Amino acid sequence: MRNKITVVGAGNVGANCAMWAAGKELADVVLVDVVEGVPQGKGLDLLQAGPVVGYDVAVTGANDYEPTANSDIVIITAGFPRKPGMSRDDLLLANYEVVKTATEQSAKYSPNAIIIVVTNPLDAMCQTAYMVSKFPRHRVIGMAGVLDTARFRAFIARELKVSVENVTAVVLGGHGDTMVPLVRLSNVAGIPLTELISEERLKQIVERTQNGGAEIVKHLKTGSAYYAPSAAAVEMAESILKDKKKVLPCAAYLEGEYGINGLFVGVPCKLGAGGIEKIYEIKLSAEETAALHKSAAAVQELVDVIKKKM
Ligand code: NAI
Ligand code: 2OP
Repeated sequence: MRNKITVVGAGNVGANCAMWAAGKELADVVLVDVVEGVPQGKGLDLLQAGPVVGYDVAVTGANDYEPTANSDIVIITAGFPRKPGMSRDDLLLANYEVVKTATEQSAKYSPNAIIIVVTNPLDAMCQTAYMVSKFPRHRVIGMAGVLDTARFRAFIARELKVSVENVTAVVLGGHGDTMVPLVRLSNVAGIPLTELISEERLKQIVERTQNGGAEIVKHLKTGSAYYAPSAAAVEMAESILKDKKKVLPCAAYLEGEYGINGLFVGVPCKLGAGGIEKIYEIKLSAEETAALHKSAAAVQELVDVIKKKM
């Protein structure tokens, strides 16, 4: 039997999630959006790309959730993107309502699905989906770390003129300016970064990674990044659907790991058929722990705001 992915939000990130997922023949895809005609039109367009690209999955669009029934994965991208001058945090209350509805409806029609949240502010929106769906924590996962590490890896590869495939990077924490790129554990084919790049230059690359989203918003002016974010969400979906058990940085609901309780924060996770099958606890230095807790505190502030609305 075919797998089924629902993508809520047929905007830039959502439509590209559908495109990557179809291109990999991961599943039949249903796009859902509030705007009439958009998910239907984009779904049809992607269906018609099938004969050219050579995929045999069905891509359809809808304005309601009935066609999403029994999805294996629901990727929530619905919401408003960050505009220039707007922080991820400004999006909080507007996107809270959107993610709440998307989760309620998705969980109603696909009670066994694994939810991958993309909507910003990411960690707080994960908390929303977790609380509203009442799914166990291994079935609600946030996409941010795959994107943040991809940015870090891309910058390092360009700097050293090596393949991106040789670069392994670790980024912990919330998806915000306080994210924690772990230089100590990042390497090129096992060679520590500190042996390849000067401290000064590494600092610049870390800062560029932390501001990776804002750099693209500044260029685009009318929206935020979508190619890499959608590819990242689909890498997570692929690891789950194919039970690949990739270890990927994801926003996970922590229950004491890293000394953090009751909060979504980015940490390394094993993703397989069961969703998050393991959360890895890395031994951190005192400085790294402090940076991670600072990032978690930034997430907590947003969660406190939405908890008042629940
Ligand atoms: P977009 O504006 O292109 O698409 C958003 C879509 O959501 C629109 O088509 C809109 O009609 C739809 N929508 C709004 N309310 C809805 C509802 N109640 N139900 C269903 N659909 C609804 O925005 P884009 O670029 O696709 O970004 C989507 C979200 O993803 C934003 O919140 C953005 O900040 C976030 N994002 C997160 C990233 C991450 O690393 N976690 C990376 C990139 C984007
Ligand atoms: C990004 O990092 C906007 O969160 C989004 O590109």
